[in-house]
Amino acid sequence: MNDNNPVRTKERFLVFGAPRIEEPEVDEVIATLTSGWLGTGPKVARFENEFKAYKGAAHAVALNSCTAALHLSVLAAGLQPGDEVITTPMTFCATVNAIIHAGATPVLADIDPVTMNISPDAVLKKITSRTRAILPVHFAGRPCDMDALCGIAREHGLTIIEDCAHAIETEYRGRPAGTMGDFGCFSFYVTKNVVTGEGGMVITDNDEAAARIKVLALHGMTKDAWRRFSDEGYRHYQVVECGFKYNMMDLQAAIGIHQLRRIEPYWKRREEIWRRYGDALAGLPLKLPADPEPDTRHAYHLYTVLLDEDRAGMSRDQFLVAMTAQNIGIGVHYLSIPEHPYYQKTFAWMPEQYPAAMTVGRRTVSLPISPRLTDEDVADVIAAVRKILAVA
Ligand SMILES: Cc1ncc(COP(=O)(O)O)c(C=O)c1O
Repeated sequence: MNDNNPVRTKERFLVFGAPRIEEPEVDEVIATLTSGWLGTGPKVARFENEFKAYKGAAHAVALNSCTAALHLSVLAAGLQPGDEVITTPMTFCATVNAIIHAGATPVLADIDPVTMNISPDAVLKKITSRTRAILPVHFAGRPCDMDALCGIAREHGLTIIEDCAHAIETEYRGRPAGTMGDFGCFSFYVTKNVVTGEGGMVITDNDEAAARIKVLALHGMTKDAWRRFSDEGYRHYQVVECGFKYNMMDLQAAIGIHQLRRIEPYWKRREEIWRRYGDALAGLPLKLPADPEPDTRHAYHLYTVLLDEDRAGMSRDQFLVAMTAQNIGIGVHYLSIPEHPYYQKTFAWMPEQYPAAMTVGRRTVSLPISPRLTDEDVADVIAAVRKILAVA
């Protein structure tokens, strides 16, 4: 409890990023549970087909996480040990870990301080004879400068793997996120714009890479090995690579297929919340997110504000504590990657080498922006922020 604010703004804790789950998902999950087939099967195939159609991609492979999607994309891109992948320091650790798991070497390029996306100029400076790929993250749902990044990739013969964990609805100059590079990787984790509990998807137009990702996702067993138990009769499979256990279950797809149908209304609701925050929080000691760039579509996955600690008279971490004391769940997206001891130890990265990401990471706070929020929840978030910053 915050001593200065003994009365909590909300009676019950508002969980950050709680998903909106409706009756069709519940019914489909129950139907799946009672069907006798919980594992990878027809519902996963349907989810893949519907996602593929939504994105206009040639292939979609459903997996159990975006981390798996990133890992398998790096492998399917044919990267070898020692090959370098340039990515952003303003991301979740999974982005960097996936590169490491695939045996490649991550290289960081700092962000643009306004968009918080990887800076194409910084990428150019990091290109060496070993660079093989760029892994941009559409941070918070705002598209990266893909014309510049695709231009660099073309010039240097690089693969682009888009981390679209925040970016299901994102578009850049008419092109959907995930279709501008060679691979697009999506997350359906509980806080994401479409949820399946845990879950992920790779989209690609590359037939060979898609087939290899399918095989690698299920132990390296030959395609559609899950069909071996179907009524078509037992089928022998062959292990053709040392793969992973990354497949999605029908139980997860049962949630996803209904969530997909509500992409637009949920996006509109988040846009509405984004605008309400923008109106209500202007003028406070906070730097609000920049407006979406022209000819782009922001996915409004995260609403991140930067605290002006001097004007607010408190540190970012004190602000986090105060929000929690008001029963409002908040997030931090993200402490920059080089703040973590593993990367400091392994790559000798220090936060100061990536000053824009370091500054954002040390001042940023994410306010809730889930479509589950009621108008009252949104008003409570605003009231808590104003109270803490002593402007209520
Ligand atoms: C930018 C980014 N990349 C990758 C991931 C990993 O996603 P998943 O939890 O589905 O593996 C996340 C998840 O939070 C993320 O935010």
